[in-house]
Amino acid sequence: MTASAHDALVRWLDHHPTVQVLEGTNGLSVADRQGVVHKPVDPLQVRPGRSLLHRAVQGKHPGTSRIVDTTAGFGRDALALVQAGHNVLAVERHPLMHALLLDLVERLASARTGAPITAEWGTLDVVFGDANNLLSHLDPPFDVAYLDPMYRTPRRGKSRGPLQWLDDILEDEASEEGTALLQRAQSSGVRRVVVKRPLKAPAVASGVSGSIKGRTTRYDIYAAHR
Ligand SMILES: C[S@@+](CC[C@H](N)C(=O)[O-])C[C@H]1O[C@@H](n2cnc3c(N)ncnc32)[C@H](O)[C@@H]1O
Repeated sequence: MTASAHDALVRWLDHHPTVQVLEGTNGLSVADRQGVVHKPVDPLQVRPGRSLLHRAVQGKHPGTSRIVDTTAGFGRDALALVQAGHNVLAVERHPLMHALLLDLVERLASARTGAPITAEWGTLDVVFGDANNLLSHLDPPFDVAYLDPMYRTPRRGKSRGPLQWLDDILEDEASEEGTALLQRAQSSGVRRVVVKRPLKAPAVASGVSGSIKGRTTRYDIYAAHR
């Protein structure tokens, strides 16, 4: 972990004494203010259900892509892309989520040793920071940018589903609506941008060139600005 990420994590934990980071044999986990322990993502749990995401990033370019996941969170989507053979740079601006991602990278590395299933998986790298600032400094250029901004329902002002606890932890911290990040991603040198949305949610911006739809989730595809 870089010194700035470490300092940010210490500061954040100081301000959130009810959140505990626990270290176990399976890596880091987090206990929220209700005492509920959230287990880390298991790098060996293959996620075939996320092949929609694979289709969305791939388009007409079969094979391995370099993908920048601009809102990496727990790294579940990043891991699914790695399992599909892509090389992923996971960007995360929240110090706690970033620490969990670094832990995932370590567990992925140890899972690779002696597990033939991981032979054709791609690579996962993690960087701490705001993708709005980092996207214009990517080197070498990436093929695809992926966005999964937090989604707040108009009615309750809260995100839905299994990430509800994360929404509670991140309360009062700036939310990412996705529109500005999408524009930066489109101008970052990638060939396409994929934005994850709940199935019925509005697009983060106009200009969707196609969507891959699942039962509850939609992946909106945007062309890059050339
Ligand atoms: C909905 S979660 C992403 C979940 C993730 N796709 C997964 O599979 O676990 C959104 C995450 O994006 C992060 N985030 C939002 N805006 C960001 C930005 N501009 N730069 C970096 N991280 C950002 C938030 O801190 C949060 O952890």
